[in-house]
Amino acid sequence: MAVKIGRNDPCWCGSGRKYKKCHEAFDEKLEMFRLKGFPVLDHKLIKTPEQIEKIKESCKINIAVLDYVGEHIGPGVTTQQIDDWVHEVTVRHGGIPAPLNYNGFPKSVCTSINDVVCHGIPSEDIVLKEGDIVNVDVSTIYNGYFSDSSRMYMIGKVSPEKERLVRVTKECMEAGLEKVQPWTPIGNMGHAVHQHALDNGYTVVREIGGHGVGLEFHEDPWVSYTSEENSGVLMVPGMIFTIEPMVNMGKEDIWQDEEDGWTVRTDDGLPSAQWEIMVLVTETGHEVLCW
Ligand code: MF3
Ligand code: CO
Repeated sequence: MAVKIGRNDPCWCGSGRKYKKCHEAFDEKLEMFRLKGFPVLDHKLIKTPEQIEKIKESCKINIAVLDYVGEHIGPGVTTQQIDDWVHEVTVRHGGIPAPLNYNGFPKSVCTSINDVVCHGIPSEDIVLKEGDIVNVDVSTIYNGYFSDSSRMYMIGKVSPEKERLVRVTKECMEAGLEKVQPWTPIGNMGHAVHQHALDNGYTVVREIGGHGVGLEFHEDPWVSYTSEENSGVLMVPGMIFTIEPMVNMGKEDIWQDEEDGWTVRTDDGLPSAQWEIMVLVTETGHEVLCW
């Protein structure tokens, strides 16, 4: 714990207001929950109103990019073309694609088709065909602030089984969103996601989860979508994280391609779907910042 701030000192959040008029009550409440045994996040991960405004600007670009993809995607499009669109639209808006060179990722976006769970690398050799389902995962840096969201696209006419997977995965994300309430543990959110998937005969990937986001691409906490109720860090106003479950039609087991170092696939070869939104915890509930 850091040195206690004086009540008349400037607040740690950078608002310029006196601590007693700003986050003192918040800290007291946080401390009360901490003493009750709830894990709480570091102050640094609580965003100030100014930071939230900047993050929202980044989100606007991310949303515009995904809208653009939705208007142009279809059979015959290569995933390299999607990469080109993402790069061009992002840069045109003054942003930088966050995936490019991130831990050595070679492209500007992840494109994950059918049994690819996530982190698919765009390529000229990968052509979308009728019946495919594809996740396009876009992340933007704008003025140093990060946004991250992904959507599923159905290519031409898709089988009812795949269509149902895509729909139910979105419902899982929405079921999680409903549980985003301040001063409750994040495990409730992940549990709701998982339960809806199980109720529909699907499984949820355990090893890969969501994350805090905003000042960095990936911040704490790591977010599970197979969590137990009443577990995990406390959600508090000002916290921003992603809800991005990967839902599998078959078993939950996955493997990573060792050759490209990125592509994650289902073990059983059955399809997987993912939707990702960025959520802000507010005083009264939540606000979706990016979708
Ligand atoms: N966009 C992914 C996420 O939702 C992360 C991709 S990392 C990359 O967290 F390097 F593959 F881009
Ligand atoms: Co993410």
